[in-house]
Amino acid sequence: MSTVSFRGVSKHYGPTVALDGLDLEVREGEFVSLLGPSGSGKSTTLNLLAGLLDADAGEIRIGATDVTLLPPERRDVAMVFQNYALYPHLTVFENIAFPLEVRRPRPDAATIREKVERVAGLLGIAALLARYPKEISGGQQQRVALGRAMVRDPKVFLLDEPLSNLDARLRIRMRRDLKALHQALGSTIVYVTHDQSEAMTLSSRIAVFDHGRLQQYAPPAEIYDRPANAFVANFVGDRETNFLDGALEGTDGELAFVTALGRIPLGRRGSALPSRAGLRLGARPEAIGVEPAAGAELRVALAELSGADLFLTVQGRDNTEVVARADPRAVRLEPGATVRLRFDPTRLHLFDAESGAAVSHGS
Ligand SMILES: Nc1ncnc2c1ncn2[C@@H]1O[C@H](COP(=O)(O)OP(=O)(O)OP(=O)(O)O)[C@@H](O)[C@H]1O
Ligand SMILES: [Mg+2]
Repeated sequence: MSTVSFRGVSKHYGPTVALDGLDLEVREGEFVSLLGPSGSGKSTTLNLLAGLLDADAGEIRIGATDVTLLPPERRDVAMVFQNYALYPHLTVFENIAFPLEVRRPRPDAATIREKVERVAGLLGIAALLARYPKEISGGQQQRVALGRAMVRDPKVFLLDEPLSNLDARLRIRMRRDLKALHQALGSTIVYVTHDQSEAMTLSSRIAVFDHGRLQQYAPPAEIYDRPANAFVANFVGDRETNFLDGALEGTDGELAFVTALGRIPLGRRGSALPSRAGLRLGARPEAIGVEPAAGAELRVALAELSGADLFLTVQGRDNTEVVARADPRAVRLEPGATVRLRFDPTRLHLFDAESGAAVSHGS
């Protein structure tokens, strides 16, 4: 296992800038996710690290070695792709053993067996070693592909959306297994995903990309609670963040943000915030409480029950709306009901309306 470092790494395809001046340090044993929407540069970053692409500029290091100009086979990384391909004519055992079989000098048969069995045990597929890929499930095939990477014991594992072909339940189970596996092996893992909840649960740190640029690099809780900009706030989270334009208003040092949906107390001392125009408030659905209020101006426009949560779309006079999250067992509100909103000041963010950069986060 090893550290990874990108310094000023860029890659373009013709006029398309796929990666723009990436600086990123991965510590030894870290699980780092590269998260972002389609086309944001995640796979480009991983392929540059694997040596499958050449950088236009910058330097890439694995451990102390500058690998920028090294071919893939000399970088000692193991990669698992989204469309992992197992050899159909080889058994599970032979598939996992393959990287060892082609190693020169070839390890002896007992060593190969021992390594394959250890990896298969860790992945929970020890009982399947004699089967062929077509005789096992998709999730089990996925584990075999992981096993084939693990058996090499590389400096760094590179995983590009390895769970995306699995159904939702299996993905969550594999996610848990991957996390346990990482804890058991202590390996350095760079993991590409566009699934924010996958990145949240797996990672020690998340690197959020948009348009080839690193937007924020921090532990999951910090990404969630202190997003660097409006893009990160919106992309990370099960639901979109609500954004409201408005103006700061201070009375007795107690600040509020005045919006089309009313006056939202920020619960902060005036000195904590720059008095300035051009701000936008960001509030996740769970930062907004809803209660019935006879004769109020706000109305429920839509009520969506999703198992444990009730998401309420609440509309103001000028059709400005926000989505709030409520407990369906505590709150019974139908479309048309008039309501009052309570914004939790500790969970509100202010962004520069123009650039999207965060200006302040809830106390
Ligand atoms: N071989 C290529 N030729 C031209 N443009 C490319 C090539 N590969 C990638 N790109 C472009 O580079 C940008 C980054 O692509 P990349 O594959 O890194 O995105 P990604 O974040 O992995 O997206 P996805 O989630 O869809 O896999 C995109 O605009 C993409 O269209
Ligand atoms: Mg990709």
